[in-house]
Amino acid sequence: MQPVMELKGVSKYFTDRRGRIITAVDNVSFSIGKGEILGLVGESGSGKTTIGRMTVGLTRASKGEVLLDGTDIAEVKNMKKVWTKAQFIHQDPYSSLDPYMTVKEVLERPLSYLMNIAKQEQGERLDEVLRVIGLRNSYLPKRLQELSGGERQRVLIARAFMPGPVYVVADEPTSMIDFIHRNSVIVLLRKLRSEFSTSFLLITHDLSVAADLCDTIGIMHNAHVIEYGPKDQVLTNPKESYTKELLAATPDNMIAASDGHQEKA
Ligand SMILES: Nc1ncnc2c1ncn2[C@@H]1O[C@H](COP(=O)(O)OP(=O)(O)OP(=O)(O)O)[C@@H](O)[C@H]1O
Ligand SMILES: [Mg+2]
Repeated sequence: MQPVMELKGVSKYFTDRRGRIITAVDNVSFSIGKGEILGLVGESGSGKTTIGRMTVGLTRASKGEVLLDGTDIAEVKNMKKVWTKAQFIHQDPYSSLDPYMTVKEVLERPLSYLMNIAKQEQGERLDEVLRVIGLRNSYLPKRLQELSGGERQRVLIARAFMPGPVYVVADEPTSMIDFIHRNSVIVLLRKLRSEFSTSFLLITHDLSVAADLCDTIGIMHNAHVIEYGPKDQVLTNPKESYTKELLAATPDNMIAASDGHQEKA
């Protein structure tokens, strides 16, 4: 079956203020099938967010191909077509949303802007997404500034799902929130995958989060994906010394708790 997201030999170069070339991503290839979750794990600055942004067309690849449902997104003229199918959940629920907007306004916007759906026709989708996300209708008139960090995170996730995307990037979805909310975000992402068969790229520096959620894991180091494979293979039989170091730095019980036997969403 055709992958939902496929990267073929993708690189990204930036130029710094002194005119030097920075290689943020170097010759990366991977694919994500329907309903599959790929976890991208690696230290700060290794290129994870840059990859995520390229997969949804927020920044262009310098080299290589990014294929969404088989279409090279560099060839798509109208980016609204890409953003209807591919969404990005930002890691910071405070900086990425206007605090004065109401939850209803935030959630209606993708349907109005990306899909030209009239507000009076959005009710059904709104109800469905609210139900799956677990946000009560009474939240709709609230302004974001009235919400907690965990609630804002849910609104960000709900917004990403409004257009019915087939592919979603979650960039460090648990980094800004406390441990209790961390687990509820993990349960929520699992539920979204099973309800909507969404494919995910889950970006995290936390191997235990990837162990909890992912089917495949890619380990990033200095702009390269140095190890990539099924979760169990990467966690139990890593080939690279860097992966072994990461595993050694993650408490055993965090990985052991994520064998897939724990609660279902
Ligand atoms: N717009 C940009 N202009 C110049 N350099 C950039 C830009 N965006 C990213 N970089 C550089 O590219 C490299 C990779 O950055 P990226 O944000 O993808 O890393 P990351 O793995 O997401 O890190 P973190 O875990 O801290 O979020 C870094 O060296 C970063 O400084
Ligand atoms: Mg990042």
